[in-house]
Amino acid sequence: MKALVVFESMFGSTHELANAIASGLRETCDVDVVRADAVDAIAVDAADLLVVGAPTHAHTLSTEASRHDAATMTSDADGDLDLEEPVMTQGLREWFDSLEHLAKPFAAFDTRSDMPRLLTGASSKRIERELRKKGAVSVLQPESFLVTRFAGLKDGEAERGRAWGEQVALAFRTTMKR
Ligand SMILES: Cc1cc2nc3c(=O)[nH]c(=O)nc-3n(C[C@H](O)[C@H](O)[C@H](O)COP(=O)(O)O)c2cc1C
Repeated sequence: MKALVVFESMFGSTHELANAIASGLRETCDVDVVRADAVDAIAVDAADLLVVGAPTHAHTLSTEASRHDAATMTSDADGDLDLEEPVMTQGLREWFDSLEHLAKPFAAFDTRSDMPRLLTGASSKRIERELRKKGAVSVLQPESFLVTRFAGLKDGEAERGRAWGEQVALAFRTTMKR
């Protein structure tokens, strides 16, 4: 079974999490990890399962404007944020816009601030909605992983990501048997 992890990331936390999730999936699957601005249609075609994640910006998926805001934050005098290089100028939103139909099993994840969900929102809900509109089928509930303030996975979140990756692979198998 081949899984493709597609991620968006401005400060690197969602990238780190995507790698942790991939290591869990690798227990039972072949896995590639790819940025949202470099997704290749052939790789998507070849994948049996998509695992798709992004940071939460303004309660949902990033936009050009929110990515610009993120980039601005790194130049604040007291900022200790670093941008992923090369900086992502396109995110999942743009990738979804480019897709016509995508009838694949998937699971969605996000990173978000460590505050009550009602206050933060969660981009994984939007990812789920957009992929379902394209004909994709969710194998597991969307999952959020927490960062400390703006970036940096909280302690234990990478391990939880790895375990979630294993869970996604199991859920995929169960879905396929039905
Ligand atoms: C412009 C901007 C808006 C944000 N809005 C939210 C938000 O509405 N809810 C939230 O939980 N986190 C919010 N955050 C924090 C991000 O979720 C956090 O920076 C992200 O999870 C880090 O992932 P990354 O390192 O992969 O970019 C925001 C961050 C930025 C830069």
